[in-house]
Amino acid sequence: MTLDNKLGITDSAELARMEEKISKEQALKLFETGQLDEFGRGTFAELSKIHEHLFGGIYDFAGKLRSVNIAKGNFRFASVMYLEAALVHIETMPQSNFDEIIEKYVEMNIAHPFREGNGRSMRIWLDCILKKELKKVVDWNGVDKGDYLLAMERSPVKDTEIKTLLKSALTDKINDRTVYMKGIDASYFYEGYSAFTAEKLKIK
Ligand SMILES: Nc1ncnc2c1ncn2[C@@H]1O[C@H](COP(=O)(O)OP(=O)(O)OP(=O)(O)O)[C@@H](O)[C@H]1O
Ligand SMILES: [Mg+2]
Repeated sequence: MTLDNKLGITDSAELARMEEKISKEQALKLFETGQLDEFGRGTFAELSKIHEHLFGGIYDFAGKLRSVNIAKGNFRFASVMYLEAALVHIETMPQSNFDEIIEKYVEMNIAHPFREGNGRSMRIWLDCILKKELKKVVDWNGVDKGDYLLAMERSPVKDTEIKTLLKSALTDKINDRTVYMKGIDASYFYEGYSAFTAEKLKIK
């Protein structure tokens, strides 16, 4: 079963491939046009703009709140009924130091506002906040994907693991294209991740 998409693709591997290619091209544009420099206030509006930018060419639901309940593993993300209230609350959460910023990120992950593509748009959103508040970003090259996923699965109960993991990967290379692009590898669910790196996308 593939998600309904604007490309008319019904094969899941093909959709994953095209989704990765297009969303990475879009992410690169966001970066290179300097649009992200205005971001980092930790609002849902910003996250929504990022999501719309990455996935607007692929899904009708880009940038829009989901209308179905979703789960991953054993975890059910915020119920649609409480999603808007959760987002209002998250926007009021402080972000003046590293721990506060990660706590906000963890809450946004629990909200999981979109039907798909939350992880990628939220990692960009997080980097924008870290950049604005701390003049740092996460070097996602230095974050083991298995460790990241385990820490995220654990984060609704206890956030120390994700804090430790991301803190150890902080870098002041805040304007590095490769560091930025690594954060949006959609790497967990299908073969062929990293087929479209920043460098490959620029060559074509
Ligand atoms: N069991 C879980 N409990 C809480 N959060 C989870 C769980 N499994 C995954 N996550 C989080 O959800 C994200 C995936 O959400 P989604 O599929 O909407 O985003 P994506 O952009 O398609 O994927 P990815 O983050 O893998 O690139 C993961 O990156 C992780 O942060
Ligand atoms: Mg996904």
